[in-house]
Amino acid sequence: MNATIPGSGPRRYAVVGTGSRAQMFVDAMLTTHADVGTPVAWCDVNGVRMSYYDELYRAARGADAPLPPRYAPDDFDKLLAEVNPDGVVVTSPDWTHHRYVVAALENGCDVIVEKPLTTSVESARAIAASAAGSSAGLVMTFNYRYSPRNSTVKQLILDGAIGDVTSVHFEWVLDTSHGADYFRRWHRLKDRSGGLLVHKATHHFDLVNWWLGDVPATVFALGGLRFYGAENAKARGLGPRPVRSRDDAGRGSDPFALDLAADDKLRRLYLEAEGDDGYIRDQDVFGEGITIEDNLNVLVGYERGASLSYTLNAHSPWEGYRVAFNGTAGRIEIEVVESAHKAPDPGEDAERVRRKGTRIVLQKHWEPAVEVPVPESPHGAHGHGGGDRLLLDDVFRGPGDDPLGRPASTADGFRSIAVGLAGNESLATGQPVRVANLGLPLRAEDLRPRAASTP
Ligand SMILES: NC(=O)c1ccc[n+]([C@@H]2O[C@H](COP(=O)([O-])OP(=O)(O)OC[C@H]3O[C@@H](n4cnc5c(N)ncnc54)[C@H](O)[C@@H]3O)[C@@H](O)[C@H]2O)c1
Repeated sequence: MNATIPGSGPRRYAVVGTGSRAQMFVDAMLTTHADVGTPVAWCDVNGVRMSYYDELYRAARGADAPLPPRYAPDDFDKLLAEVNPDGVVVTSPDWTHHRYVVAALENGCDVIVEKPLTTSVESARAIAASAAGSSAGLVMTFNYRYSPRNSTVKQLILDGAIGDVTSVHFEWVLDTSHGADYFRRWHRLKDRSGGLLVHKATHHFDLVNWWLGDVPATVFALGGLRFYGAENAKARGLGPRPVRSRDDAGRGSDPFALDLAADDKLRRLYLEAEGDDGYIRDQDVFGEGITIEDNLNVLVGYERGASLSYTLNAHSPWEGYRVAFNGTAGRIEIEVVESAHKAPDPGEDAERVRRKGTRIVLQKHWEPAVEVPVPESPHGAHGHGGGDRLLLDDVFRGPGDDPLGRPASTADGFRSIAVGLAGNESLATGQPVRVANLGLPLRAEDLRPRAASTP
């Protein structure tokens, strides 16, 4: 991936998928990173959402600024030919990533792609083939690495604070608001998001791969849809539910309802855009047709011998994560409470027992435990613990010399989804899966073009 060459002006980016997530990248290009990146085209199925970005563009560049041209998905090749961008920012839904990544790489155009890289083994192999044959770069946006608490853990491990890591126990809980959100729209379909093992846990598997600096070798998974979905609601006697929150007369008192009209961004990006493509953002989480899991347990064996036990729950009363690292010289524990309590009116006592915040504890063998301070992010806690802003610097300005190795390589993108994809295969077959059998490039050298074989 080329950083901007001094004096050459900002690099020109086409933005594919002008939904919610695109705003982090577009806002950066219009403000904090305008010197190094500028949006030069939109590509989406939905004109209303592209107009939302036109407004942001004009608010930053002036009411008369010529707007970036719009392209439909089928015209992406035309976009590449006509606009000739330096790079493409891919923030479309997960199942569409691969076609843009492949087309851009084959045209020598750099790619910044949101997680997950893609959702199936076949599409991952197609990306691998294009990446190996392309002069262009592919950057994965693993923003969780950049949050100061996760970087602190990496530093402790790199410093040898607990010797060699022998095993990791990792629990991630999503609450009944954020967790529920994966059951309202395209994420709820396995063939659209890859399920939470791919869509969500890609962040978590990347963290472990990076913390350990190791390559996943074996995966075994168990899980199921046990809380959301029509059958579970029926079994718990929830009674008839609306198809979507908007049709729910009692939505004010329903903790699972999402009021699209009450939030300016949700209203403009989704409610007012429905007429264009029928994308319903507030489907009932207890509706029919959900094909992803809400409870997941995974075991991962690593090449150098460490193992991971991982669990994800999407209907917890609080949100956050706990990770424990066992090492040859001691143990590190991190607990992060992102939301302590979910209720329409949490009241004063909501955080009496469980408080929002981060705690990292290091205990070396034969020593008392010590709490390890987490440095404040220079950009505040907003945006994944302040990580989003640091990530944007690396993405748009080019990665500096980072002793923590936070900028994710193309191989890191494959390593992370490989665990989720192997987990999905294990869920389907009930058998452990050897990650190498997926045939994905898990190391940088796997992505180098192969020399033609001699007959
Ligand atoms: N790193 C993070 O923390 C993070 C957070 C949120 C989302 N994401 C990722 O960002 C991506 C977008 O998520 P979102 O929440 O903005 O979704 P979204 O549904 O809000 O937006 C997706 C946009 O893509 C458009 N689209 C649909 N089909 C398309 C196609 N075939 N071609 C081009 N555009 C198409 C939609 O119309 C919509 O405007 C996802 O891959 C998601 O995993 C990452």
